[in-house]
Amino acid sequence: MRPASEPRTSSLMSTQTVLTGITTTGTPHLGNYVGAIRPAVAASQREDIRSCYFLADLHALVKSQGPEALERSSLEIAATWLALGLDTERAVFYRQSDIPEIPELMWILTHVTAKGLMNRAHAYKAAVQANEADGARDPDQGITMALYCYPVLMAADILLFGAHRVPVGQDQKQHVEMARDIAQRFNHHYGEIFVLPEAEIGADTAILTGLDGRKMSKSYSNTIPLFVPAKKLRSLVMKIKTNSLEPGEPKDPDTSTVFQIYRAFATPEETAGMRERFAAGIAWGEAKQQLFEYLDAHLSEARARYEALMADPGHVEAILRQGAERARAIAAPLLERVRSAVGIRRLAG
Ligand code: TRP
Repeated sequence: MRPASEPRTSSLMSTQTVLTGITTTGTPHLGNYVGAIRPAVAASQREDIRSCYFLADLHALVKSQGPEALERSSLEIAATWLALGLDTERAVFYRQSDIPEIPELMWILTHVTAKGLMNRAHAYKAAVQANEADGARDPDQGITMALYCYPVLMAADILLFGAHRVPVGQDQKQHVEMARDIAQRFNHHYGEIFVLPEAEIGADTAILTGLDGRKMSKSYSNTIPLFVPAKKLRSLVMKIKTNSLEPGEPKDPDTSTVFQIYRAFATPEETAGMRERFAAGIAWGEAKQQLFEYLDAHLSEARARYEALMADPGHVEAILRQGAERARAIAAPLLERVRSAVGIRRLAG
């Protein structure tokens, strides 16, 4: 419990903590950049916010494509965030598996987590339903404890850092609500230790469509990776699905992936210009060429930094270790309070 004499208006108390995790599967793509990385890097520059961003490599085990893929993705994601200008003096940037306080807290949280709550998790329910649809005799067939306990690990990630706000995609909203439930239950039994987190869902405009017109997502294999060489970037942009309107025929920008991606990067004035060119019947090939040139020009500096970081994993590793030290300095005192609250205490001295 906080001593009553502690001033309640200290500047620290008005600092909001914003925290999010990035599962280390796959290679970052344009959709990740627009939806998550760009707003996170911008938020980390604000004075009044403490930002915590981490590589959720323990979560990645659930969807893991094998050890090499996991390692590779961790490096790619770390290098991407750094190349895009994340200020690691300001933001706390770390790797989940470097923080032993997280799995310890997870275990402690399991004792206030109802099994029934986990039964209702969307990802688990979807796996059970898939089994039932396949006519499996055991509805839990092939379902691991990692999948089942995924939300408790995520609650530990969030609660250990006192996060107020958790920017996530719509698909993760339930997990943040579960973290809140778990925190409430713990606080009810043991006193006000945890901040109750809230999910912050990005606006719809922050979701990019992919090559095939569906949401850009690694699970649809329709992505444009952020930092591919220019030639590859061009060939991917040329693959974006369009309709069969001929050059000279007016085209609807608002249903076009080419336009939508352009708009996500360009200024409002540039976007207005592209809108006019669509109305004037720009050929698809030309619109794509302009999109490619725009992306290439705007990503090339960051791409060079990314390539340098990818070639120097030792440097990335050193940055992550420094981040872990700072993260543990936040996490350890809170875990100590949690331990003490539940009765895991030194018996003397
Ligand atoms: N589960 C999240 C995802 O798949 C990643 C994640 C792990 C996370 N721990 C978190 C997000 C804590 C926010 C807060 O996207």
